[in-house]
Formats: sequence, structure tokens, C-alpha cells
Amino acid sequence: KKKVTTHRLMKMKQEGEKISMLTAYDYSMAKLIDGAGIDIILVGDSASNVMAGNETTLPITLDQMIYHATSVVKAVDTALVVVDIPFGSYQGDSHKALDSAIRIMKETGGHAVKVEGGAEIRSSIERILSAGVPVMGHLGLMPQSIYKYGTYTVRAKQEEEAEKLIADALLLEELGAFALVLEKIPAELAKKVAEKLTIPVIGIGAGSGVDGQVLVMHDMLGINNEFSPRFLRKYANLHEEITRAVGRYIEDVKAVDFPNENECY
Ligand code: KIV
Ligand code: NA
Repeated sequence: KKKVTTHRLMKMKQEGEKISMLTAYDYSMAKLIDGAGIDIILVGDSASNVMAGNETTLPITLDQMIYHATSVVKAVDTALVVVDIPFGSYQGDSHKALDSAIRIMKETGGHAVKVEGGAEIRSSIERILSAGVPVMGHLGLMPQSIYKYGTYTVRAKQEEEAEKLIADALLLEELGAFALVLEKIPAELAKKVAEKLTIPVIGIGAGSGVDGQVLVMHDMLGINNEFSPRFLRKYANLHEEITRAVGRYIEDVKAVDFPNENECY
């Protein structure tokens, strides 16, 4: 498989080939999903939930994101690696935004950054792009703004919010974003946005009328059995699998069945 580039993603949209994207936060898992042939690996700030055990994505720091991204990049041969800029590292100050993006590109070797929002963060996006750093947008449910909304329910069901989302999507394309994530919005709206834009639109909980799909890897592998939103398809039940494996190990240790003769020096 050839290396995935932002240019290649644009071609995939033109040719109707859907784009596959998953999150990863460490070397071992990144190696697995890159080897399986994934198109894009997102070092998501969902690491705050999945890796660090926080309730939201807000607490994770730029240093922590850089640690995760550095590990992921070392494992990757072909996927495009996109790194989330965390809350507080790009909003309201375009110079700070560029500093954050440059640290990510220099220190991790990642290929692009992702930021949440449209018109509100326009100057930050413009300044990052001015340095030649590819930017992926993220609209709809934006977890970094969770306290503005109060819940993780479906976004843009109302006309007004839908109109703003469309305007923001068009703005992001006009500014020069190379792709856009739409999270948890009505399928019909997502399809409309994907049709309006020439850049690829990648959905999570946004239906099949978009140009690709993204899921949090730990969710799709069924590692956490307490998280089962409607949009999530589980491709494995690692919660059960791992619990069973660890249970068997404990039994073997207790029974002095492990290690056996062949497992000793
Ligand atoms: O951080 C993340 O995992 C994300 C995806 C859900 C798009 O932003
Ligand atoms: Na994110």
C-alpha cells in the first residue's frame, strides 16, 4: 500500500472510494491498524477519556498529546497521521495556535492537525495553514465545547444550528482545510454537506452519505462495555476476551499450573 497523503484523500473522494479512519494513542495499536491498511490514524484527544480516564477531553495537555502522537508516528508506514490540538492550545489566539501546531509537527512527525469549530477559530486556522500545516476541521458534536451544550446528544437537528454548520463547513473548505469530521448530526444534513464540499467529509454518527467513517478504536473493539451509542458498531468484544484471558491467567497462577516445565529455565 502506498503512503496516504492529503492529495490522495481528495482523489479518493473524487473517485468515490470511501476513507477509513480510526484513532490510536500508542505504538502497538498504531502498528496493528496501520498494518491492517487503515487510511487515516487520528491521535484523538479522546485519549483524555480512553487513555487518561478523564470524563471529558478538556484536561489533556499539548505535552500529553505530543507524547501519544510521537509513539503513534513511530509505528506508521502508510497511514496519514492527524493529531488533535487539545483544548486551550488554539482557541482565541492564532499565534498560540500556530505555536501548538508547529510543536506537534516538529516533535511528533505527524502529518496534519485537527481543530474543533468554524468561524470562531477562523484566524487560528488561517495562521496554522499559512505555515503549510494541513488542517482537518471538526463540526457537529464538538467534545471540547461540551460545557456549552451540556449533553452529548445529536447536534444540528434545528434549522438554525444546521445552517451555521453548513456555513462553517463551507468556510473551512474556503480557508483551505483538507478534510472535515462531522460528529453526531442527522445523516441527511451530513450528506448535504458532503455533496456541497469538494474536500472529503468523514463522519462519526453522521450516516453513510459522507466520504468516510471514523470511530474511536477502543469503542469499535468493544474494550469498554459501558459505552454503546447507536452509531457505534462493535467489531470485537475485547472486554469479554481480555477479561476471560486474565481470568485464566489468574487461575493458572493460583493453581501453580503456570509456569510449567517448558516455561522454565
Ligand atoms: O478525539 C477523537 O477521537 C475524535 C474523533 C471522535 C473524531 O475527535
Ligand atoms: Na477529538
